[in-house]
Amino acid sequence: MQKLIIQGGVPLHGEISISGAKNAALPLLCAALLTGESLKINNVPALHDITTMLSLLKQMGTDISGSNNEVVLSAATLSQLIAPYEMVKTMRAAILVLGPLLARAGEAEISLPGGCAIGMRPVDLHIKGLQAMGAEIHIRHGYIHAVAKKLHGARIVFDIVTVTGTENLMMAATLAEGTTILENAAREPEIIDLANCLKAMGAKIQGAGTDIITIEGVPSLHGAEHTVMPDRIETGTFLVAATATGGEIHLKNTDAHLLDAVLDKLTEAGARIDSNGNWINLKMNTKPKSVNVRTAPYPAFPTDMQAQFMSLNCIADGTAIITETIFENRLMHVQELKRMNASIEVEGNAAIVTGIAHLDGANVMATDLRASASLVIAGLIAQGETVIDRIYHLDRGYENIEGKLSALGAQIRRTQ
Ligand code: EPZ
Repeated sequence: MQKLIIQGGVPLHGEISISGAKNAALPLLCAALLTGESLKINNVPALHDITTMLSLLKQMGTDISGSNNEVVLSAATLSQLIAPYEMVKTMRAAILVLGPLLARAGEAEISLPGGCAIGMRPVDLHIKGLQAMGAEIHIRHGYIHAVAKKLHGARIVFDIVTVTGTENLMMAATLAEGTTILENAAREPEIIDLANCLKAMGAKIQGAGTDIITIEGVPSLHGAEHTVMPDRIETGTFLVAATATGGEIHLKNTDAHLLDAVLDKLTEAGARIDSNGNWINLKMNTKPKSVNVRTAPYPAFPTDMQAQFMSLNCIADGTAIITETIFENRLMHVQELKRMNASIEVEGNAAIVTGIAHLDGANVMATDLRASASLVIAGLIAQGETVIDRIYHLDRGYENIEGKLSALGAQIRRTQ
């Protein structure tokens, strides 16, 4: 199994480009199921999850072509309305085909996503919303069986803010009869990106990015072209890495407006940040200060940046409290960081991190996507060599991370 080997202690310097956002690209690819015409998506990141999603759409009968981060999809005929267990078990986002299939083809059979390393992650709110729109849904033998002759509009109030739940119902509502109102909807930028693409396809959507989204159904959608937004979590990961190692980095093809909560915390830690349009420059020439973080839905501090900030706080000046409020089991990286001599105590959903002079390089194991990013950052700041096992987690969400870090001067390599 491939591993990453990192020699720590090198400040990061240089310029790299940020990729398209995984969490925007995944629902955007599913939007192709809503029309028989072709949808061209640009700036698609080359990631494991994207490959899995493309195979899933292909086995449904979608025609797929393209190269160099551009994908052209055409779901003129849908021969299979099923998302098999083998594909869903590796990528929970496969649930995002449920709404579009039901809206377009009136039927869908989707393997129920099981739990995952970071939490139980049920999809009850997706199902409840589709039932409110008139779908008949049964769970049998581990599969969601959904049927709807024609979905109709509904007023849906989410108990909990859910990103893919909002995306699934927004897509389903575009072809429903009448108007759907989603309340307590997620406000993540990836939802605005999806809504913009759907509108380019002829959908009638208002309020994406706010907690009330109104969708007026239309009889059909047409083809379009859309460019995936930059990945704000990839951006944040590199900025935290440079704040931890010291140095100066320049990130291109990104957008500072997507990261207010994260940039505020990095400034609090002592980083100097400049940005304009599609670039961000970060300079760090002091020891970082400890910063408390508490995760919550957008625009608050993102849960997908929590683990990276834990690594930063491991060598910062002071003590920080990191509170995870979104997922019930997203502190798995603590044990691995403690193998590197970090000083962390966990109490319920909070971790108390006391900054120390340095981490020790060690053999560690990735448990999920963002935990693996935190171990990469820990390896970059540790004394000696760090070997990270199970890096397939990292490849699910970071395009060519060791190539980009090497371009910033890091001593990092992948073993075969
Ligand atoms: C999206 O997951 C992202 N994934 C996650 O990124 C991200 O961590 C998460 O949003 C929160 O920001 C994609 O966009 C593909 P949720 P999602 O539904 O939509 C509970 C990464 O690292 N809930 O917003 O699955 C749920 O258990 C990944 O890139 C229900 O109870 O997350 C959680 O506690 C990891 N019932 C909370 O809501 C439901 O039906 C928020 O989850 C749905 C969700």
